[in-house]
Amino acid sequence: MANVVVVGAQWGDEGKGKIVDWLSERADVIARFQGGHNAGHTLVIDGKVYKLSLLPSGIVRGGKLSVIGNGVVLDPWHLVEEIEKLRGQGVEISPGNLMIAENTPLILPIHGELDRARENQSTVAKIGTTGRGIGPAYEDKVGRRSVRVADLADETTLELRVDRALVHHDALRRGLGLDPVDRDALLAALHEIARQVLPYAAPVWKVLNEKRRAGKRILFEGAQGALLDIDFGTYPFVTSSNVIAGQAATGTGIGPGAIDFVLGIVKAYTTRVGEGPFPAELKDETGQRLGERGHEFGTVTGRKRRCGWFDAVLVRQTCATSGVSGIALTKLDVLDGFDELKICVGYELDGTALDHLPTAADQQARCKPVYETMPGWQESTEGARSWADLPANAIKYVRRVEELIDCPVALLSTSPEREDTILVTDPFSD
Ligand code: IMP
Repeated sequence: MANVVVVGAQWGDEGKGKIVDWLSERADVIARFQGGHNAGHTLVIDGKVYKLSLLPSGIVRGGKLSVIGNGVVLDPWHLVEEIEKLRGQGVEISPGNLMIAENTPLILPIHGELDRARENQSTVAKIGTTGRGIGPAYEDKVGRRSVRVADLADETTLELRVDRALVHHDALRRGLGLDPVDRDALLAALHEIARQVLPYAAPVWKVLNEKRRAGKRILFEGAQGALLDIDFGTYPFVTSSNVIAGQAATGTGIGPGAIDFVLGIVKAYTTRVGEGPFPAELKDETGQRLGERGHEFGTVTGRKRRCGWFDAVLVRQTCATSGVSGIALTKLDVLDGFDELKICVGYELDGTALDHLPTAADQQARCKPVYETMPGWQESTEGARSWADLPANAIKYVRRVEELIDCPVALLSTSPEREDTILVTDPFSD
């Protein structure tokens, strides 16, 4: 199979970094298709730690083309900073190995300011955003007032775009008690950064279609998780992009038929950062234990993640909405040493049994988890590289997960080390 999409199948932080790195080694092209620098991927290669939030994971490997698709919102200042940081670590980055879609909307400083100003308003329920301007930048995209990468090339166009955006933003800012935007300073900053961004601008849709025809392997690297999807997530406590696999096509300009395998990344338990419903959340010692064993702190914001049992209902749902072909189950070793484990297999809503998460926010918040209890295991699964290395109860747990989510395990990850992986189905195999 030539082209693989990787998506988080929960609320993000499923451990995509290691899997994406493993797959990107075998891909020719690695493309981001949604989100922005709200994502946080840590890659450990030959003992060196690389932290990425905007650039595709393939950038740290030589001989790969990394692509930022139009579905991403791009903070050009952050881009330059991330490039410089990686160069400082010896990573070579040039227009030869990094391309940015010309139709990618920019995140401007005013987007971050608006994001944070809204979050700080006590009258409205917080979303718990990363404060990086992601939502406001997507709003401007659909509001047809974005400054896009291609606009940086022409002074007149850039002024027109900025003026269009400011009509809207200055009105909003007045309402929020913020000063009007300093137009000249913004334009000067954009002129300045344009020189550093434009060399990477390219018709990504064309490049990807050519690569595809040439039989190259493309890895579409998703960020966040399907439960944060703007349409199918726990709205309004979601991110502002489509996160599910279909976005790989619209977020890069390749047809849906180009996708051969969708790999859903699934953590063996559940976590979430920020606000919003979380039926299987554990606010007790067990939740604390999962968080400590799993080192559950946000890569971007440093916030403590909320933890809970594995929720099979949610993952069955996200596997369906993303058309997941197989899952990569991560962090199984965090469950080592529990006497018993619970899996959420359904919900109870006002006395009625449900086999899916309802759409209405008030109903989501009232859903009570229905658990199935399974025996735990005392042996360590950390570093297991074959099924034979796993205790019988761990295998039972994995098999039960497959059954409940209606999707097979393609990969099992048993530690942050690349080699500590049990491969069942190779997503790239022909
Ligand atoms: P935003 O993407 O900054 O607008 O934040 C919206 C919601 O998505 C918040 O609950 C964030 O915590 C969450 N979020 C955004 N990016 C990530 C991620 O990479 N991992 C986990 N949660 C995320």
